[in-house]
Amino acid sequence: MTVNPKIPPNQLNDFIKKLELQALETAEERIPLYLKIGLKDAELILDIGCGSGMVTRDIAHLTKGKIIAIDGSEEMIKVAKKVLKMYKNVELRVGEAEDLTFEDNMFDIVTCNLLLMWAEDPQKVVNEMARVTKPGGTVLASLEPDYGGKLHYPEHQKVDPIFAGEAIRARGGDPHIGRKLRLLFVRAGLETIVGIGNTRIWSCKEDRAYYFHARDFYVKALNEAGLSQNDIDKWEYDYLRSLDEGVQLNFFPQFYAIGKKP
Ligand SMILES: C[S@@+](CC[C@H](N)C(=O)[O-])C[C@H]1O[C@@H](n2cnc3c(N)ncnc32)[C@H](O)[C@@H]1O
Repeated sequence: MTVNPKIPPNQLNDFIKKLELQALETAEERIPLYLKIGLKDAELILDIGCGSGMVTRDIAHLTKGKIIAIDGSEEMIKVAKKVLKMYKNVELRVGEAEDLTFEDNMFDIVTCNLLLMWAEDPQKVVNEMARVTKPGGTVLASLEPDYGGKLHYPEHQKVDPIFAGEAIRARGGDPHIGRKLRLLFVRAGLETIVGIGNTRIWSCKEDRAYYFHARDFYVKALNEAGLSQNDIDKWEYDYLRSLDEGVQLNFFPQFYAIGKKP
């Protein structure tokens, strides 16, 4: 595979920008997980679906070990090579999550962040993650959302269903991957715990800042879902007003799973 079919080439730069912002905004959820699973002392780590490498960079900061990071998209690996050029302990390769080219029982830790939602066969991916992990080693899937648990106020009849999963499904993702993590990990033979990483609800100020970084994405999703420009403008006006008034509330759960290989 040379290009991730889910990212049209004309949207690659926007996508990279979004990943960078996401990595920054979610560091406080991910970093405790990395520490909890013993990343610091791990010798060999595999990061799957590394994208532009922003999250791999966090991993590289927290370990003395070597990291191999793979992504199915050559374009993303090119970007990741630039982002991670200072990190001598990171090796980047193009590779398919469903068909890892590593031997059994190789890695101390195998991670993925926001990958399973987009994987064509998430069970195959988790099975592969478990296969290449050493006995006693750990598999971590972080930041796998479940849009079915999205809560939002003020409510909007037309827009809410789009952001509650339709937009993700239309782009080939599984908006309900979060609730399936336990199933995927248990079926892969892992001793599993699951949790929700993001218990904090952002302030309106934080939501506002995020909205303006990601505005193009939101507007594009609404356009693609067939909303008229008039509807989009009206929704945006109401949305921003609720943020200015400080009454807007937005939460959606992002699950993680930690699996020990027996
Ligand atoms: C949403 S991005 C997340 C990137 C990175 N983990 C992060 O959190 O910033 C998902 C990445 O997974 C890659 N991907 C999707 N399906 C894949 C597969 N089957 N094998 C390898 N990579 C895949 C995509 O190319 C994309 O870069």
